[in-house]
Amino acid sequence: MNVGPNSEVDDAPIFLVGFMGAGKTTVGRALARHLEYAFFDLDELISARAGKSVQEIFADLGEAEFRSLESAAIDSCRHMVRSVVALGGGAYVFEENRASLRAIGKTVWLDCPIEICLKRISGDKSRPLLGDEDDMRPLFVRRGAAYVQADYAVQAGDLSPGELAIEISTLLNV
Ligand code: S3P
Repeated sequence: MNVGPNSEVDDAPIFLVGFMGAGKTTVGRALARHLEYAFFDLDELISARAGKSVQEIFADLGEAEFRSLESAAIDSCRHMVRSVVALGGGAYVFEENRASLRAIGKTVWLDCPIEICLKRISGDKSRPLLGDEDDMRPLFVRRGAAYVQADYAVQAGDLSPGELAIEISTLLNV
């Protein structure tokens, strides 16, 4: 059996990356349904393991601890097959996580304009890092330099989740 990095393996997990509000969870669910794969939301895995919501982890333990729980949750995806995983918006920003993800599966960037991201999530109190557009724009630009390193990219602004699911499965040939 091949025990090396499984990014070349057809049923390796698919990770969706992108900014807050890009649609990772919604598109991830649609993609999983389309492919008959399992769906996981990394923030939910982190919360379940910590016994706290993401908001509570940030408030009680701080962002650094959240990032370390996030890296551990990524590592826990190592044995997944036929799965779609929606990552949190900061997960792909760290080289350590990118290296793990490269070894585990395939990454797809949902490239969505900041205006659309912010419109979808404005006022959402469950996102501890969410600020107004002036605060978010530099973060959005900085993170773009990381997201562009994903294995694949799709323009996520205009298409419906179902259309994006079809586009991603065609792009990845799965
Ligand atoms: C974060 C995004 C959130 C969540 C956490 C940190 C980020 O996920 O992981 O609040 O750093 O951008 P979403 O991208 O699903 O909002």
